[in-house]
Amino acid sequence: MNLTRFSFGDFEVLAVPVLRDNLVYLVCRDGEAVLIDAGEANPVFQTLDANGLRLQKLLITHTHHDHIGGCRAIQDRLGVQSVSPGVEPGEVPMLGTICRSISTPGHMAAHKCYHFPELGILFAGDTLINGACGRLLGGTAEQLFASLQKICELPDDTRIFGGHDYLVDNMEFALSVEPGNADMQARLDLYRTDPAAAIFATLAEEKKTNPFLRVGTAKEFAKLRRRKDCF
Ligand SMILES: [Fe+2]
Repeated sequence: MNLTRFSFGDFEVLAVPVLRDNLVYLVCRDGEAVLIDAGEANPVFQTLDANGLRLQKLLITHTHHDHIGGCRAIQDRLGVQSVSPGVEPGEVPMLGTICRSISTPGHMAAHKCYHFPELGILFAGDTLINGACGRLLGGTAEQLFASLQKICELPDDTRIFGGHDYLVDNMEFALSVEPGNADMQARLDLYRTDPAAAIFATLAEEKKTNPFLRVGTAKEFAKLRRRKDCF
């Protein structure tokens, strides 16, 4: 996938592909930017330079290497501070708007999602990844189920930006769970013509196509997660 831009009023979100299939994000306004995750530094430097952006802050969803591998180089070159996923959740002003960090353990024991309520966008890291969720690599199924339920309480028109492009694998799995589901098939088909539109869905679209948001209990969730681990 190529670099993709989205407008939200005065703000822009740049989705920057890094490494093999990771995505990091720049939220921008008036030449200032905040970065969410930093799997690799050079694509971030290039995007900042090409767009005349000054980086203010770096928000980390979780500490897997493919989300933090570029942190040190970015901090050293630009002198920005990073916000660890281990800090207390809360609201902080950023770029003239509010950023809420939400605790979403499960993929790891410490994981944060970053919600910009006035923009209607959520950076979901490896908690909710376009049509599925992250693996259990340190947290429990109960935690990840509860974290996804917490995300489901956000407004339905919230646009979700996850940490990877796993859309094809995720929709193929979703269709194996619900064969013939027209919404899932449509999302998979859309990927071929407009990958960004298929990947960066709203919460309402996720609820129709993400099997991990369509189970009612932590037990059912755990069973589904085990099934995907072997898919
Ligand atoms: Fe991860």
